Amino acid sequence: MQQEYKSKSYSHVVKIILILAVVVGVGVAVRAMVLPDTFGEFGHYRGSAVQDEINRPIRNGTNASCLACHPYIRQMHLAGVHHTVSCEFCHGPVADHVTDGKVTAKLPKKEGKDIKKLCLRCHNQIIRARPKESIKMISMPQHLEEKHVRIDHNCNQCHNVHAPLMWVNEAKAMVGAGEGSK
Ligand code: HEC
Ligand code: HEC
Ligand code: HEC
Ligand code: HEC
Repeated sequence: MQQEYKSKSYSHVVKIILILAVVVGVGVAVRAMVLPDTFGEFGHYRGSAVQDEINRPIRNGTNASCLACHPYIRQMHLAGVHHTVSCEFCHGPVADHVTDGKVTAKLPKKEGKDIKKLCLRCHNQIIRARPKESIKMISMPQHLEEKHVRIDHNCNQCHNVHAPLMWVNEAKAMVGAGEGSK
């Protein structure tokens, strides 16, 4: 038989329990101090965040919001393959341009090499995650080599930015190639 040794001293256990109680107590107190008032009103988040989001000013309009003042571009855009693309993706939010129906500042339009960068943000073959069925992809400089032009050609020399196949189709019609043929 093994002899059992039992200590009668519990003071170390008491100390640990006391320390834990203090830590938990301080934790609860600090939590109560730093938690925002509306926390938990609707769920595990700050209830007033909902109101903050509602109060956030709306900065983007829709493509329709450009129609009244840019009818020509909007009509061209609507008729072309880019009709689903947001004007504001390429130009920035309407709030930077128009307030209460009045023009307050100019929206930027990309120029030169920035146009190439803009187009390739959506059409670059390198973006592997994007399904080819949804957006046609090109590789550079192969796309320009196939068209037998110098690789410093810019996209908008052949593609109207607002209706990318407009000039291509016109050119094809002119040489009698018909739309869609290579
Ligand atoms: C209330 C009328 C109005 C609305 C709405 C409006 N625009 Fe304009 N926009 C103008 C006017 C006027 C100018 C010319 C400003 C100037 O030349 O100083 C202009 C200029 C521009 C330019 C700069 C053109 C340049 O030559 O540099 C761009 C880009 C543009 N708008 C895009 C848009 C887009 C995109 C929308 C919709 C999201 C839009 N605008 C909505 C009136 C409007
Ligand atoms: C795919 C990007 C893209 C989209 C979408 C787009 N734009 Fe543009 N836009 C450009 C670029 C780039 C330029 C400048 C180069 C050019 O005109 O060839 C431009 C030029 C303009 C200009 C100046 C016109 C001029 O002749 O100088 C206006 C105004 C404008 N866009 C308005 C719009 C409106 C309104 C829409 C939506 C109906 C729209 N854009 C959609 C890329 C875009
Ligand atoms: C925000 C994303 C986006 C940007 C930026 C963009 N495009 Fe597009 N583009 C599209 C979508 C979406 C389509 C329609 C789907 C398709 O046909 O690929 C399209 C269609 C096209 C097509 C027709 C493809 C076909 O044969 O059906 C051409 C050409 C084109 N874009 C050229 C350009 C050029 C040039 C620029 C730069 C001025 C540009 N795109 C910028 C999204 C974009
Ligand atoms: C020298 C003229 C030219 C230039 C410059 C050019 N393209 Fe094209 N692109 C074409 C033609 C023509 C087509 C029509 C497709 C065909 O018939 O081969 C086309 C087709 C496309 C397509 C559709 C591809 C497909 O699979 O159907 C996209 C996307 C495109 N171009 C984007 C661009 C972008 C982005 C740039 C700038 C980096 C650019 N293009 C520069 C002439 C050009």
